[in-house]
Amino acid sequence: MDYKKLLTSLIPEMDEGIHVVDRDGVNVIYSQKMADMEKIRREDVIGKNFREVFSYIPENESTLLQALKGHTTEAQQQTFLNVYGKEITTINTTVPIWDNGEVIAAMELARDITEIKSMADRILALQEEKIAPPKMSQPKIRHYTFYDLIGSAPAFEEAVSVARRAARSEAPVFIYGETGTGKELFAQSIHYDGARKSRPFLAQNCAAIPESLLEGILFGTVKGSFTGAVDRAGLFEQANGGTLLLDEISAMPYDLQSKLLRVLQEKYIRRVGGTRDIPVDVRIIGTVNEPPEELIARNALRSDLFYRLAVINIELPPLRDRKEDIRALAERFLDKHGRDGRYNRYSMTMEALEKLRGYDYPGNVRELENIIIAATAMAEDGEILSAHIRFPFEVTARRQAQSRKAETAGQTEPGGDAAAWPEAVNPTALTEEGLSLPERLRRIEADLIDEAMERNGGNISRAAAELGIKRQGLQYKLREREKK
Ligand SMILES: Nc1ncnc2c1ncn2[C@@H]1O[C@H](COP(=O)(O)OP(=O)(O)OP(=O)(O)O)[C@@H](O)[C@H]1O
Ligand SMILES: [Mg+2]
Repeated sequence: MDYKKLLTSLIPEMDEGIHVVDRDGVNVIYSQKMADMEKIRREDVIGKNFREVFSYIPENESTLLQALKGHTTEAQQQTFLNVYGKEITTINTTVPIWDNGEVIAAMELARDITEIKSMADRILALQEEKIAPPKMSQPKIRHYTFYDLIGSAPAFEEAVSVARRAARSEAPVFIYGETGTGKELFAQSIHYDGARKSRPFLAQNCAAIPESLLEGILFGTVKGSFTGAVDRAGLFEQANGGTLLLDEISAMPYDLQSKLLRVLQEKYIRRVGGTRDIPVDVRIIGTVNEPPEELIARNALRSDLFYRLAVINIELPPLRDRKEDIRALAERFLDKHGRDGRYNRYSMTMEALEKLRGYDYPGNVRELENIIIAATAMAEDGEILSAHIRFPFEVTARRQAQSRKAETAGQTEPGGDAAAWPEAVNPTALTEEGLSLPERLRRIEADLIDEAMERNGGNISRAAAELGIKRQGLQYKLREREKK
């Protein structure tokens, strides 16, 4: 096999740039990708000596020349200005190539991460803005405290009492709760009710960042061996003296989890590519939204990190397990979102509340809050009726229920699936035996109204127009129904 041919066709296909020097430091391979990144022409490099072409790089900072001496540099981030002055960031790995105990060449692989890095910088800049908001004119960002935590179900109160104790201590905290159960609210309450409240509170979702960048975001980076970039502090340094909330900590790569553990134990960090140990004093709150024992079992969460964080362990119950709190939460959200200048405060019928209690809330408290916001937007005269309460999955659920009814009436083939049913099921198909004519008519009317409300996104005026009745008439019918 002709390996040279193989290589010359392989190299241009690779995402990484490749640069190889032989034992004398002569550039033997310099791929087009590499040339594009460094904005140097291939013909100006190949066949020439490395020290000549790259004379501006001090010998002890060149990873390729170091590799010729047998040193490997793994996944090092470098930021440099190309000849057009554009800042380029790459991740480089440089290895010696050995033959019979001797280095015969050195190879560098470089991946261009300029765009990913600018994304990371943006995130850090936003975090910095959060720490030091503009002095004047801006309303103060509202922070959550224990006062904002609504709920009296036993499991919830237990969580609050653990969190209150956490606020008085300095220990790391671990919070488990499904999405929308209030993990961030708890974390902020612990911070703003504790001794660190005048210091920064920063939050980072570990699942939102490419794995390769997370370490740099957390611990910072030092400028690469080329010219250009400034040193950058990571979130640990930015949050110094305060609290760092690490959401979805199980999304953090396994080996980074052990670095984090070391930081928790030794209380200093080292920037990526740096050599200096920087002392940090940061309280960590880690969260997950799946049961920790399951995450540990499938190696998503290191058990040693878990035990270190779970010095204080908080479990937030899903909303469906504390339906007794739905009323108090709904009232809080009406208070928070239900003032639009027209009505002093929205009210809610018992039927609307019952409807709220009948749902399972996969999105937990956040979902309830959004449902209330939508309801206040649709309500008229400041009163929220059950018709204004709309669940994201309600349409599907109702359609399935209808098709089930029709099935029992023998109108569909066995095994026929709900999705195959026509949009509007003929209302007469729902007729049940043994009902009086007025009751049957009332049900048909109720179904027609429900469907019109559904189609018009809960807007009473539009639904009324579609049904060919007056808005007040529909409003009356809806209200009468609630009273029954
Ligand atoms: N106990 C509560 N009392 C009052 N409001 C709450 C409560 N829990 C949650 N909320 C409301 O729900 C919203 C979502 O809560 P939060 O952001 O803390 O959830 P989370 O658990 O961090 O969710 P995710 O896992 O999706 O990040 C909050 O903005 C808040 O308005
Ligand atoms: Mg959150």
